[in-house]
Amino acid sequence: KRLILIGPPGSGKGTQSPLIKDEYCLCHLATGDMLRAAVAAKTPLGVKAKEAMDKGELVSDDLVVGIIDEAMKKPSCQKGFILDGFPRTVVQAQKLDEMLEKKGTKVDKVLNFAIDDAILEERITGRWIHPSSGRSYHTKFAPPKVPGVDDVTGEPLIQRKDDTAEVLKSRLEAFHRQTEPVIDYYSKKGMVANLHAEKPPKEVTAEVQKALS
Ligand code: AP5
Ligand code: ZN
Repeated sequence: KRLILIGPPGSGKGTQSPLIKDEYCLCHLATGDMLRAAVAAKTPLGVKAKEAMDKGELVSDDLVVGIIDEAMKKPSCQKGFILDGFPRTVVQAQKLDEMLEKKGTKVDKVLNFAIDDAILEERITGRWIHPSSGRSYHTKFAPPKVPGVDDVTGEPLIQRKDDTAEVLKSRLEAFHRQTEPVIDYYSKKGMVANLHAEKPPKEVTAEVQKALS
């Protein structure tokens, strides 16, 4: 399947992605994860993206479209994919349509992680991630077996630099202003499945499975 995951920061996109990937054998492309890796490695791309990311603003459309275009060439992404955090502007959505049209394919479904803003601060400020895999934990909702340590690799967990209450405000503003129109864009095409993203993770997984069956 070819899927898009849209939702505000902390709505659970990264949490549900591995489960969808395992079940439907897709490739998981998370622009945020790819950008953070570029920032950590101080690549030219990372240097360009860092300032906007630290402020909770979107990086330029050209930059992320380039990343996705390149990543979709991977053999593992030919039969299906999950786009997590992309497209985030209407321009990005149009570019994606063009990209897929050239390959003679299209997106099957857009999963909308609908949730009230008020819930997100606690999710964001309690999150710990394993940077190299993108796995995320939460001190209260999804604690690792050993505090501060990744369950799978035993490596240390870190907090994202943009996971503060302060930066969250800008990220939410960017979401409402630039990304909500993307949901309308796909709604008009009848492609959107709305999820109750405020529910516990297992219940959200069940809704995802229902939407994809
Ligand atoms: P990105 O990394 O995409 O961040 P985001 O969209 O803000 O989303 P998050 O990763 O914060 O949330 P999530 O939905 O994955 O939540 P998670 O599952 O981890 O982007 C970062 C930055 O990169 C952007 O600000 C921008 O600068 C740039 N960028 C990226 N893509 C771009 C693009 N296309 N264009 C331009 N710029 C771009 O869950 C959060 C926490 O809650 C976790 O601790 C988790 O354990 C917990 N949790 C999850 N589900 C539940 C549940 N159901 N109940 C209770 N707790 C839960
Ligand atoms: Zn994420």
